Amino acid sequence: MDQARMNDLIATSIASGGLSQEHIAEIIQFRVFGNRRGFLLLENMPIGSIPRTPSRRDDLGKPDTRSEKLLLQATALLGDPIGYVQESEGSLINNFFPQRSQASKMSSDSFDTELDLHTENAFHAVQPDYLVLLCLRQDPDRQAVTFISSIDSIIERLPSSDIHYFFHEPYNFLSDYCQREKNCRIDINKRQTVLYGDIASPYFRFDPYFMVAGSHQAESKLAMLRDIAWEVAEPLTLRQGDLLIIDNRKTAHARSAFDARFDGTDRWIQRTFAVCNRRFLVERLGTHNQVFELVANL
Ligand SMILES: [Fe+2]
Repeated sequence: MDQARMNDLIATSIASGGLSQEHIAEIIQFRVFGNRRGFLLLENMPIGSIPRTPSRRDDLGKPDTRSEKLLLQATALLGDPIGYVQESEGSLINNFFPQRSQASKMSSDSFDTELDLHTENAFHAVQPDYLVLLCLRQDPDRQAVTFISSIDSIIERLPSSDIHYFFHEPYNFLSDYCQREKNCRIDINKRQTVLYGDIASPYFRFDPYFMVAGSHQAESKLAMLRDIAWEVAEPLTLRQGDLLIIDNRKTAHARSAFDARFDGTDRWIQRTFAVCNRRFLVERLGTHNQVFELVANL
């Protein structure tokens, strides 16, 4: 989609996305003040009529666009919607459903691996501030569980010496982008700390499978942090019409495995990313383009 069409879609969504005044207020409150859990869940949203879940990208047709507009309206209240070339070819709205072409791989959810807690695109210099998920259809066996682990809960269980440690110890965050694919592990020399920002209420950067520790101590500290993150993780079962906003600078998230049937009833999620620093990105990158290739440094 070119920039002009993207802008038209965003403008239409802002004007008629279907969010009530109360929901708009809740989303703005969340952006301005945040909350301890690091997420906002709005249920029973008006998503329009949802066709059978496709099982191939080529079959993705959706005549009723109310869900897309709702999602983009919510996203625009949080920041600027962005895309990544490596995710759904830069589309502002990513559709997730089990794909037949990938079903034969090892794990039951190999179509979209989200099994361990992570912050999204932790290696990327253009990190999304928020993820917005809209559930168009729950999986029929209700197995899929989304987990969210907030750094505000995690640091309550960390001694202050460890909080200082994670503010200062750099880990090498590997990129999972290779050409146009995901889930490889590439060293882009992205050394950064797990905690950053205000030590009284830190931001969080975490993706253990894609992090290389610089010492045995750093490795065991990371394993301890991962255990705590799982201890405090909140399980959420998304149902049809649920809109979930995740603060990607204050939380890590994961999703359990679930089964696919490929009969039109499978789980279907739409997702967007929002950034809050678009003008800074334009300044540093010299372009208004809101679809990003890999950016290692700004
Ligand atoms: Fe994720």
